[in-house]
Amino acid sequence: MKKEKVLEVNNLKISFRTPNGLVRAVRDISFDLYKGETLAIVGESGSGKSVTNRAIMGILAGNGIIDDGSIMYRDQDLAKLAEANFHAIRGNKLGMIFQDPLSSLNPTMKIGKQITEAMLVNGNRIKNKMIDMYHTEYYEYVNKKKELELARKNTKTKIFEVQLNNELSKLDKKSKISELKQELKLQLSSIKVEIPPYKKKFLEKKAEAEEALKVETIKIREDEAKELKVLKNRFADAKKELSKFTKGTSEYDAHSAIVKGIRKEILNNKENFKRQLHVTKKEAYERAIEIMNEVGIPEPEKRFNQYPFQFSGGMRQRVVIAIALMANPEVLICDEPTTALDVTIQGQILNLIKNLKKQRDLSVIFITHDLGVVANVADRVAVMYAGKIVEYGTSEDIFYNPKHPYTWALLSSVPDLDTKEKLLSIPGTPPDMLYPPVGDAFADRNQFALKIDFEEQPPFFKVSDTHFAASWLLHEDAPKVEMPNIVKQRIEKYKAQEKAFQQSKGAQA
Ligand SMILES: Nc1ncnc2c1ncn2[C@@H]1O[C@H](COP(=O)(O)OP(=O)(O)OP(=O)(O)O)[C@@H](O)[C@H]1O
Ligand SMILES: [Mg+2]
Repeated sequence: MKKEKVLEVNNLKISFRTPNGLVRAVRDISFDLYKGETLAIVGESGSGKSVTNRAIMGILAGNGIIDDGSIMYRDQDLAKLAEANFHAIRGNKLGMIFQDPLSSLNPTMKIGKQITEAMLVNGNRIKNKMIDMYHTEYYEYVNKKKELELARKNTKTKIFEVQLNNELSKLDKKSKISELKQELKLQLSSIKVEIPPYKKKFLEKKAEAEEALKVETIKIREDEAKELKVLKNRFADAKKELSKFTKGTSEYDAHSAIVKGIRKEILNNKENFKRQLHVTKKEAYERAIEIMNEVGIPEPEKRFNQYPFQFSGGMRQRVVIAIALMANPEVLICDEPTTALDVTIQGQILNLIKNLKKQRDLSVIFITHDLGVVANVADRVAVMYAGKIVEYGTSEDIFYNPKHPYTWALLSSVPDLDTKEKLLSIPGTPPDMLYPPVGDAFADRNQFALKIDFEEQPPFFKVSDTHFAASWLLHEDAPKVEMPNIVKQRIEKYKAQEKAFQQSKGAQA
């Protein structure tokens, strides 16, 4: 069976404008995410893990720009998506949880309110239906308009680069910049001409949708009035019957029960009609309790009315996960979700994420700087360094057959599982992303670096159908280099542990 692709990142490049120049945070990365899998993105601090995922979520900092590439979710490019559509996808299809659960919770608002807030705010069902009806036309119109903004941003970046270029004279800079501005002007006017037909199409579709939903709303109200009338008549009749009996008799009790039953029916009926129009408080409450149970928050009815400070760190992270799950997302991005927690709690949250993934067939992106955490959760692993993916493969590929010297370094710096001792820290520091190196960014810190590593960016070499690494060492003409002994020992240990684990599973079965 072919696996279903949920997310596809292609040649993504992201930079930040800063007073010192352009920080090239993400430098041409591509990866896929399949339905029901966990992809771990691993790398040292500053390698671009969070920036990549913030771009997917549409929450890049204001000075950040997607320079190039696409982020395809189903058939939509999130890199080009307009704000309004982004909210629909971000809120519903993609969820994200962060390292520090406290910073994603409001300390002065009850947990229950925080869990139900988005569902209630976005709960106008009629409006949502309407937006669905003109979604495509709106998307095309807004994206056309967005081309103006993109052109402006691109020119800004180009001007910025000219200004920073020390090889140009003042005069050259001036003429280059005025050239760029002229170009932009032409570009803008040609885009502006194309906008009106899109606007017209959108407005027509919108009017059509509004009319259709108006009719539907009236119909719902009429149906409600009709049903209510029938119920109220039944209620009046039942009450009349009841008045024939004396209190305390068994006939009275039986008829009293009938009256109560009808009253309940009336309330249910009102609630159900309300739900056709919008999400009700009761509905949001019921859903919150269900999700709180699912993420392992005990006594959810009581917890619903408490504040964040009344929760432990692990419980707070469960609340944050509950908030992300309320909208039933298809993709869950976890950015270092356990880093701020102590080891036992860490394990519990990892297990929770693993179980949720399995039960809900979620696609998970799991970001961490700790390869040690990854072995347990990930189906596939992408290793990032200095804004690039340097190696990717299945968990087995990366743990048992790592090929890139940076992956070796990461593996040898994982704290030993028995002694908890960190064996080697990676010597040196990552490069300054204002001036990314021309060749393999890891060359400076790589004891096996070849001359070409300093000169040319290595392409991805195929190790197997699932496994790729960008290291010149994999070139057929490169000298044969063995991985360091410490990494070999690590791998043997991982294999032994895995074998013992499988045997214990077999023994239990
Ligand atoms: N708003 C910003 N302005 C300028 N540079 C930024 C901004 N945000 C991130 N960066 C830079 O982008 C690069 C990648 O940062 P990112 O946060 O993605 O790292 P990370 O891999 O998530 O690291 P960590 O493990 O520390 O979370 C870093 O060099 C960082 O300094
Ligand atoms: Mg980060």
